[in-house]
Amino acid sequence: MSEVARAVSDRGELVLRRRADDGALELRVNGVFVMDDRETSSEELLAQAALSGTPERVLVGGLGLGYTVRTLLADARVRTVVVAEIEPALVQWMRDGVLPSVLTDERVVVAVGDVRAVVAEQPDASLDGILLDVDNGPDFLVYDSNSAVYESEFLALCKQKLRAGGVLTVWSSSSSAGLDAALARVFGRSEVSPVPVRLQERDETYFVYQGRL
Ligand SMILES: C[S@@+](CC[C@H](N)C(=O)[O-])C[C@H]1O[C@@H](n2cnc3c(N)ncnc32)[C@H](O)[C@@H]1O
Repeated sequence: MSEVARAVSDRGELVLRRRADDGALELRVNGVFVMDDRETSSEELLAQAALSGTPERVLVGGLGLGYTVRTLLADARVRTVVVAEIEPALVQWMRDGVLPSVLTDERVVVAVGDVRAVVAEQPDASLDGILLDVDNGPDFLVYDSNSAVYESEFLALCKQKLRAGGVLTVWSSSSSAGLDAALARVFGRSEVSPVPVRLQERDETYFVYQGRL
């Protein structure tokens, strides 16, 4: 295992490292695995799930290694991607070329901050999609403060920022009855798609939840 980059923020330690066995680039926060660049199908599926209808203006929280944003940018219908990322170092690593960058595309607008604040700043009915992948899901939080991201109050704020036909899409590493119920309360209905993934020799299932206007 070799360290590629390290940064410390108010939330703790962010480490980018290269695995010795398969050469994958891995992101860890306070020692907890967040993601790698080998199994990115669920990050890409998160974007594809949001690409129905007319996906002109989309907000993504957070940036991570950029797979969700890259998938959105591959669709010419997407005119603006607002990216909310709480860790300034991650944005800087992309700007410095430490990580393959998605920020050079002129359709990308980066806001360094909490996704809850960035969503609150958006005009009402201004987004075709909001994609939330800021943590491992409501039941395995890396940051305790992210619990509010999965609760009705914030989900209702997201709904307020969506245009007619817009969709809120939420990634979770596990099935969550609480998130399902909160989305159903806010949107009238919650849709869940299990995503089978192969993670370092293990079969896992990730989940994508959606609420539609
Ligand atoms: C699992 S990664 C996102 C992966 C991304 N979908 C991709 O394709 O690479 C989670 C990201 O959300 C960021 N994050 C965590 N909490 C956040 C918050 N409250 N607001 C904005 N970004 C946040 C983390 O720093 C990290 O970059």
